[in-house]
Amino acid sequence: MTVITHIEDLRRLAQRRVPRMFYDYADSGSWTEGTYRANESDFQRILLRQRVAVDIDNRSTRTTMLGQEVAMPVAIAPTGLTGMQHADGEILAARAARRFGIPFTLSTMSICSIEDVSQATDRHPFWFQLYVMRDRSFIESLIDRAKAANCSALVLTLDLQILGQRHKDLKNGLSAPPKLTLANILNMMTKPRWCLGMLGTSRRQFGNIVGHVKGVDNMGSLSEWTARQFDPRLSWQDVEWIKRRWGGKLILKGIQDVEDARLAAESGADALIVSNHGGRQLDGAPSSISALPAIVDAVGSRIEVHMDGGIRSGQDVLKAVALGARGTYIGRAMLYGLGAMGEAGVEKALQIIHRELDLTMAFCGRTDIRQVDRGILLQPT
Ligand code: GLV
Repeated sequence: MTVITHIEDLRRLAQRRVPRMFYDYADSGSWTEGTYRANESDFQRILLRQRVAVDIDNRSTRTTMLGQEVAMPVAIAPTGLTGMQHADGEILAARAARRFGIPFTLSTMSICSIEDVSQATDRHPFWFQLYVMRDRSFIESLIDRAKAANCSALVLTLDLQILGQRHKDLKNGLSAPPKLTLANILNMMTKPRWCLGMLGTSRRQFGNIVGHVKGVDNMGSLSEWTARQFDPRLSWQDVEWIKRRWGGKLILKGIQDVEDARLAAESGADALIVSNHGGRQLDGAPSSISALPAIVDAVGSRIEVHMDGGIRSGQDVLKAVALGARGTYIGRAMLYGLGAMGEAGVEKALQIIHRELDLTMAFCGRTDIRQVDRGILLQPT
């Protein structure tokens, strides 16, 4: 077996081990995938300043996100269907994040439920991501369930009132559990580890939803479900209502525009995430890393600014921090680890990113992540 030294190794292994339908779901963007690709490639354009003969002994990547101590400025992003990349995926990722000392965010569209994850991690606090659906009483019950499970932040996603079109999901007929068509069965037969895992768990559908919404025992395809249930009328009044109802730390996810960032700051939320949903929604939007600096300049003194999109290495994390992000999120980098090797794979992904971050910071002549600023970039943007 190849020695795993970077996230790309985990991605390749996940591609071999995860059924095509779910690997494709994780690894695609909307329409031309231009924004998806730019999220990664725009990081490459940012150059770091190498410094030498600086004392770089005793380094620390520890900082805080939302006042919470973190081992590095990286949280696990909420990703849908994580428990289809690997059996019990959300539980495994939450455990790995806890051991590493970073926040784990559970998606509304997870396979393991809020209660499952809470129980499996000894009620250790995690963050919960909320989608706004038409059925407001269901939203209320999700918020109450997150509170009961000891969740310490609510991540409210604002950029998915409607679903961006991802060609492969439509072609593959993405659903959970997968429909047993001949093509799916043949593909799954080539993934024995995955099948064995799935046979060993009862968690194979959307755990937060099925059994909790009246009449929903089969959600059909993801695209049909979101079209029916997600609320296209979502407004800033809803944000206010959710903030009141939740009463705890609130993070607004999916901000790309300076005007929206100002509204987010005015809403009284504790943080915003500069995000284009991993290039899965508006194809043609700028990469997250290119949108970040203007948003930091506009609202960074009033609200914590986080970012996600395209992070595949510690160098990427460092660049985002240099441009003013207080924290970053990894979605795909975590999913590749999970699909490749389960809990150990998520842990591996975190170790890889942490080591890259620590060494890159040192090459730039810095020893404390909290002191990193635009001064480490060759061409400040
Ligand atoms: C969200 O759930 C997505 O599929 O991007």
